[in-house]
Amino acid sequence: MVKSLQGMMIMKIIGINGSPKREKSQTRLLVLGVLEGARQAGADVTFVDICGLEIKYCTACGTCYAKGECIHDDDFPALLEKMLDAQGIVWGSPNYINSVTAQLKTMFDRMADSIHCQSFTGKYGCAVSTAGGSMADEVADYMNATMLHLGATTVGKVAVLVGADPNAIVPAEKEAKELGRKLVDAIRSTWKDPVQEKQHAERREYFRRLVMFNKDIWKHEYDYWKGIGEL
Ligand SMILES: Cc1cc2nc3c(=O)[nH]c(=O)nc-3n(C[C@H](O)[C@H](O)[C@H](O)COP(=O)(O)O)c2cc1C
Repeated sequence: MVKSLQGMMIMKIIGINGSPKREKSQTRLLVLGVLEGARQAGADVTFVDICGLEIKYCTACGTCYAKGECIHDDDFPALLEKMLDAQGIVWGSPNYINSVTAQLKTMFDRMADSIHCQSFTGKYGCAVSTAGGSMADEVADYMNATMLHLGATTVGKVAVLVGADPNAIVPAEKEAKELGRKLVDAIRSTWKDPVQEKQHAERREYFRRLVMFNKDIWKHEYDYWKGIGEL
């Protein structure tokens, strides 16, 4: 967190929507709802429409593991910087064939180096999803699992089916605002969930060993773990 001119700590929260429907997206309403709840609770919030960005596919070349940088010249590095600069992260996606949209998945695939380095350690996150008729819950769970995989602690989700009842978005937006307040509370109180803490510890140990095993080719990641004194 950075200090404001008045010496208060400013908490940054970023919300990313994966729907290509842009302003017409129902999921966007939920991401904005979480951000509004967080803003009312005192956070500095930023909304990003991922479909307005150019994010190229991961080619599995391994350059990020070796050098900490990508071969692509696109909008992903700046977006990652924004997420790394935030204390709270919100991901939103509609259910597209029982998963997140391709645009959000393309972003996830560019984060393998961040997963190896557990770059979201100490951050908090949550997920929101809408679906026509099924599996909004599962899609939100998948986003939260990805957040956890990056080292963040997740505080909850909002998932809603809107196909047969477009008005279902209204109470869901209210829930989203509450989720935003919960996210701020968790960051402020550095909330710890014993179940997730255990998973964080196991995952750190797994990636520490993986990076150690590949130390000759994954030089950047080896240097990173060594630099934080865990190798
Ligand atoms: C390509 C595509 C795939 C979809 N797949 C599913 C699906 O598998 N299950 C479902 O319940 N709804 C599915 N839907 C419906 C969307 O999840 C639903 O309309 C959602 O609320 C759209 O959110 P948005 O307005 O934020 O884009 C799909 C829609 C599209 C365009």
